[in-house]
Amino acid sequence: MKYLVIADIHANIEAFEAVLDKASSIGYDRLVFLGDVVGYGANPEECIMMLKSRMSYGVAGNHDRAIIDDSELSFFNEIAREAIIWTRNKLKNSPHLNFLKSLPYTQEIEPGITITHSSISAPEYWDYILSPYEAQIEFESAEFAVMLFGHTHVPGGFEYIGQEVIPIDDYTIHLDSSRRYILNPGSVGQPRDGDNRASFAILDTDKKVFQIYRVHYSFEEQQRKIKEAGLPLQLATRLEIGR
Ligand SMILES: [Fe+2]
Repeated sequence: MKYLVIADIHANIEAFEAVLDKASSIGYDRLVFLGDVVGYGANPEECIMMLKSRMSYGVAGNHDRAIIDDSELSFFNEIAREAIIWTRNKLKNSPHLNFLKSLPYTQEIEPGITITHSSISAPEYWDYILSPYEAQIEFESAEFAVMLFGHTHVPGGFEYIGQEVIPIDDYTIHLDSSRRYILNPGSVGQPRDGDNRASFAILDTDKKVFQIYRVHYSFEEQQRKIKEAGLPLQLATRLEIGR
């Protein structure tokens, strides 16, 4: 089975289309979504529609939840909150709100492979897995062989060998069945690793490889729309620097 694994689209339709084009040319069987289809960018409705029609498995991100649940707003900084409020207005009365409501926090997509947006130990708190220490908590909190996550907007992950957690920053990750993995495909619509290209991954469970890809897209067009929408200017500038 070849899974297209995507996370953190963030209403960036130009990046999403570029990822789908590239993934189609590579070929995949099922699309797995790790949360945050909306927030920050100018095309929430278009991105939800495009995702909905293609998604096989998906989980909610903090931005997806914040559109439908007021109690989530306290987790956000001022700029993100402004974008959430803009997105809420944009999606007011949208039939697609039910799609956001339907997304669970975690899901097992096949035996041993679990998906979540932030963490599996406490998915509703939206913690970031950035260090081996944080990864260790995840490895010890559930029995998964592979956990796929998003939220950090940084591709890569961690492997668990014996009791040791090793960070991985390779783009080609060969999965050893005697080890366990926490893997992140990076962000489609707002990369934060200093590379402004959209990021995604293909998980091939037959070949046992998690392959990360980067693809150029027209961030200038999304920047133009963000400015035109009156969204915070920083949300446009960061797309160019990939931070
Ligand atoms: Fe995100």
